[in-house]
Amino acid sequence: MGMLTNFTPLFLIFLMFLHIRSFQTKVTVGYNTRYIHRDSKLSPLYNPSLTKSQRSKNAIARSHARYSHIKAVHSLAASASNNVNTTTETDPNGGDYLMLVSLGSQKVPLWMIADTGSVLGWTTCNINRAGFYNPKSSTSYSNVACSSTSQCINSGGYKCKKSLCNFDITYGDNSETGGVLGVDTLYFPTTSNGTASLPSFVFGCSSYYYGFDVSSPTGLIGLGYDPVSLPNQLGVSTFSYCLPGSDVNTSYGSINFGSTGVVTGSNVYKAKLFTSSSDIFYFMNLTGITVNGVIYNTNYAASPGNTIIDSGTTLTYLPSTTLAAAVNSALEKSINCTRAVSYENTNGLAPCYQASSCFVVPPIVAHFQGTDIPLTQSNAFLEVDTNVYCSAFTNDGGNDVGIWGNIAQSDFKVGYDITNQVINFKRTQCAASS
Ligand SMILES: *[C@@H]1O[C@H](CO)[C@@H](O)[C@H](O)[C@H]1NC(C)=O
Ligand SMILES: *[C@@H]1O[C@H](CO)[C@@H](O)[C@H](O)[C@H]1NC(C)=O
Ligand SMILES: *[C@@H]1O[C@H](CO)[C@@H](O)[C@H](O)[C@H]1NC(C)=O
Ligand SMILES: *[C@@H]1O[C@H](CO)[C@@H](O)[C@H](O)[C@H]1NC(C)=O
Ligand SMILES: *[C@@H]1O[C@H](CO)[C@@H](O)[C@H](O)[C@H]1NC(C)=O
Repeated sequence: MGMLTNFTPLFLIFLMFLHIRSFQTKVTVGYNTRYIHRDSKLSPLYNPSLTKSQRSKNAIARSHARYSHIKAVHSLAASASNNVNTTTETDPNGGDYLMLVSLGSQKVPLWMIADTGSVLGWTTCNINRAGFYNPKSSTSYSNVACSSTSQCINSGGYKCKKSLCNFDITYGDNSETGGVLGVDTLYFPTTSNGTASLPSFVFGCSSYYYGFDVSSPTGLIGLGYDPVSLPNQLGVSTFSYCLPGSDVNTSYGSINFGSTGVVTGSNVYKAKLFTSSSDIFYFMNLTGITVNGVIYNTNYAASPGNTIIDSGTTLTYLPSTTLAAAVNSALEKSINCTRAVSYENTNGLAPCYQASSCFVVPPIVAHFQGTDIPLTQSNAFLEVDTNVYCSAFTNDGGNDVGIWGNIAQSDFKVGYDITNQVINFKRTQCAASS
């Protein structure tokens, strides 16, 4: 199934045509809502017929496809910083985590894929079934009119048709969705059973889909660095999430915006955050990784940083081939058990081990500009089958931008502080259930 994306090159146009209107809301209270893995039983994307090993194969494939996509978007942004006419690159795979929101006057609950590698949100608007959002039933819905701006004309995916602003997203796997841009109230459940709201949330109101499974209500919420992404529409410069890992059960993590999104206290690791006005991603600068007391440095430097932090990518892509090889070889030398070679052959990750008393992962520390973060076994290894674990550190064969994926971030509260250009990591047990 094709899943969701971003609108990379459009931030300038968006900034102008949406005026300040949509982005003026200042949030003084915090928001807090559930953030779940797509393979959780709570997720509309949950497929009960898959085995653990099929799910992990899918996750690895999604991760690699997303990495290629992110590299393409990043290099376009890097080479076309002032060109708003760049072709929109899209992601056939979408992210791994979904967020619970409600939309419109009827407060239709929707689990939307929410990730830091996307920016424009969308949901289905023409499916007349219980549980789906329908703009005709929402008294708070309105279309974004072309007349509200002179910029809504033939600009990279947005077209003025019958005085309405239309969008169309074609994905890398040829799936496609489109419709008109609309405005409605977005509601967030809060932890204390309250509701917070964003009165004029701008989103894509989709009326056609090719290659999408729209059998259950879903859509996209963008968290990337861009005016149209949710944090900016909320008017907040802080948000955080806590990822519980990919257990297929009823546990969930959380995502927080505004004051509840601030991660403070003792034992907070503060990595320097790098952003660029021409790029939708959040970057850190990885300087090395220590395995079992030995540090492996990388001097691969890239602008604005050498590693993207992304909630929607599963694996950890190190920015240099030599670093990935050194880390995996150090893991192999420190773990004194027989390798699960058949899994290495099928998954392309290595080393892999069957869980047993000898499977003890040595201390691992990730060194970023600003901080050194100790990692646990579950930050470093992906469970690819019941009790079989493979290193989640990889590299696709070149020195290129890296991605700090969601396995490496699990069981940390990860707080983005855009004003202060810091990403705060605080070790936290993220899984909750009720
Ligand atoms: C955008 O790019 C297309 C294709 O290269 C070109 O035909 C068009 O004139 C460009 N539009 C603007 C506004 O630069
Ligand atoms: C929220 O509401 C539900 C149903 O009314 C109730 O069972 C639950 O205890 C409430 N939780 C809190 C934290 O107030
Ligand atoms: C989720 O399920 C896994 C096994 O599939 C179990 O180890 C874990 O404890 C469960 N988590 C919760 C919060 O129930
Ligand atoms: C990232 O770290 C490397 C190695 O320490 C350094 O050479 C480079 O200048 C840093 N990059 C930025 C953007 O600060
Ligand atoms: C590895 O395990 C084997 C069998 O348990 C043991 O004989 C050997 O000494 C161990 N090697 C190291 C380096 O710990």
